[in-house]
Amino acid sequence: MNNTKNEYVLIIGSCNMDLNIYSKRLPKPGETVTGGIFRQSFGGKGANQAVASARDGSTTIFIGKIGKDAFGDQMLEQLQKEEIDTTNIIRDPEEHSGVAFIMIDENGENMISVAPGANFLLSPEEIRNKGDIIRNAKSLIVQMEIPIETIQQIYSIASEGECIKILNPAPLKAIPKELLKNIDILVPNEGELFRLHSLLGFEENFEKRANLIQKIIAISKNISELGIHNIITTIGPDGCIIYDGKENVATKMPAFKVKAVDTVGAGDCFNGVLASQLCKGKDIREAVKFATCAASIAVTREGAQSSIPYQEEIINRVKEYNKMK
Ligand code: RIB
Repeated sequence: MNNTKNEYVLIIGSCNMDLNIYSKRLPKPGETVTGGIFRQSFGGKGANQAVASARDGSTTIFIGKIGKDAFGDQMLEQLQKEEIDTTNIIRDPEEHSGVAFIMIDENGENMISVAPGANFLLSPEEIRNKGDIIRNAKSLIVQMEIPIETIQQIYSIASEGECIKILNPAPLKAIPKELLKNIDILVPNEGELFRLHSLLGFEENFEKRANLIQKIIAISKNISELGIHNIITTIGPDGCIIYDGKENVATKMPAFKVKAVDTVGAGDCFNGVLASQLCKGKDIREAVKFATCAASIAVTREGAQSSIPYQEEIINRVKEYNKMK
């Protein structure tokens, strides 16, 4: 841990137990596919991002809600092993811990169904009790596996402090425009960006023949005008686009080419390392480079948290990335 006092990453979000089945192909509705291999692993977008941040060497605090059940005990113990500060995790005596059923095929494609359980009971009031931790964070990241009113409360408190406020809108749902005004950096994938644009009521402002990157830039411009400084849109094996709304400038960052075996949690790895690198004082492009390199390692391994690389591996991948033409 190399951060000084108050220089911590704060991650607020979900914590799930992932029940994974790896099989040749994904079933169609109503179909049974047999012969799969089962693995239980630690997941949840929030917890995955916290692990990515901690493994990247940043002091990391995680706030979330888990059940008082066996999965909850195991998840808590695991986060503590990762040296994440878990003192603000809340246990719910009535509701089960979050669970995700994940199916992965031989090409690494996946389908995920989540029973959020306790994650969805994290309330605005419980967040108000964590005001100082939120205001004093150096960087903050939240995803959308907790209630939207709770997310609004988090960013409203965070805006009273100086922290870098990141929102990973996954899984995407309607986001009030007032909430977006409180965000510094939005990190959707391309599908989330397009759906968010239409949920916000924007008309398509690009030529029909525009390519994907031109469309992403046009959409990012519209959304950023709501008050967001930067939008980083991840485009899987093609890397990501950083759109700077203040300067109206877009930068394409290529990905490091690898053969993906399981992409579950790779986006979380990207987001956690991004928050960690910003906490260390890196500028946005350098932070995105580290995040891209970390995600390029995560996709070559199975599982969510189990696939996330450590600091040394990320640094080595960045050195290789810097040699790319
Ligand atoms: O982003 C991957 C995560 O989504 C999984 O770990 C699963 O728990 C769901 O939250």
